[in-house]
Amino acid sequence: MQATAIAQPNIALIKYWGKRDVARNLPAVGSISITLRDLYTRMQVEFDATLAADELTVNDAPDQRMLPRLSACLDRVAGERRSRARITSTCNFPIAAGLASSASSFAALTMAGAAAAGRDASADELASLAGQGSGSAARSLLGGFVELANTDDDIQVRNLLGPADWPLAVVVAITQAGPKPVGSTEAMEISRETSPFYKSWIDDQPQDLDAARTAILGRDFDRLGAIAEHNCLKMHSIMWASRPPVVYWNAATMRCLQTVRHLQGDGVPVFFTIDAGPQVKAVCLPEAADRVEAALRETPGVIDIMTSGLGTGARLEDES
Ligand code: PMV
Repeated sequence: MQATAIAQPNIALIKYWGKRDVARNLPAVGSISITLRDLYTRMQVEFDATLAADELTVNDAPDQRMLPRLSACLDRVAGERRSRARITSTCNFPIAAGLASSASSFAALTMAGAAAAGRDASADELASLAGQGSGSAARSLLGGFVELANTDDDIQVRNLLGPADWPLAVVVAITQAGPKPVGSTEAMEISRETSPFYKSWIDDQPQDLDAARTAILGRDFDRLGAIAEHNCLKMHSIMWASRPPVVYWNAATMRCLQTVRHLQGDGVPVFFTIDAGPQVKAVCLPEAADRVEAALRETPGVIDIMTSGLGTGARLEDES
């Protein structure tokens, strides 16, 4: 009745933004991501019939904020008549700040919850269950380069390349600590309902996915960078043009983009991407990581830097 799983966050290069079914948390578009290696969330789930309610601790402190979403995820994984659970989460990076902590949390929770409940779930079932917790979570089940595709009624994830097939590095520039002002679900709905650019975003996504997939399979860094930056800026344009506008960036976010542009001007193989938060992720070839890290560290407003290679997908930890 107890299991532990570990999962890494993933960074989308072709973004998921918008839902086609809010109740089932189904994305409106496919997406492509890279799974990180050095940032992690570990989730231990212990079902205990003597507990009156689910309990959650995050990094050794009791936490109520995430509990309703985690409990609902366990209901889907183990059934609503399940015993209550003791959930113990450990995370080595800032939570809810645009660093995909929900992706690694729900991937690890789904895997640990299924194992603790003795449920022999297929890969597609795990993807569907993780995706209902957080749209991007299904991608953290797999390592390296991952594509999430919409099927008729659900989602599917598949590997495009493994982490060792094209070992890129990701330098994350933290420009602001603490949780983001608007959650991604709310912001996606504001975009869908009010942004004049939302429809063209949905219509054009298949061609961005094709371009990125081709660049990844051909290990074409410049092409991948060009389509990833374009897709990221398009996603943020939708938000900026919404009513009310959703602007996750701060002044340091913009300065980091300028740093990346300067590096590119010097011939450094690097591109940026930004998710629903103010942090900038600079993706580069491994040999450029030190230079990218140093340049971002010197950028005014950057408060911390985390560098990671690409990692494997979520996995159970042996408890013996
Ligand atoms: O999984 P969610 O609901 O936190 O949404 C994630 C959305 C983005 O991070 C902005 C893009 C993506 O594909 O990860």
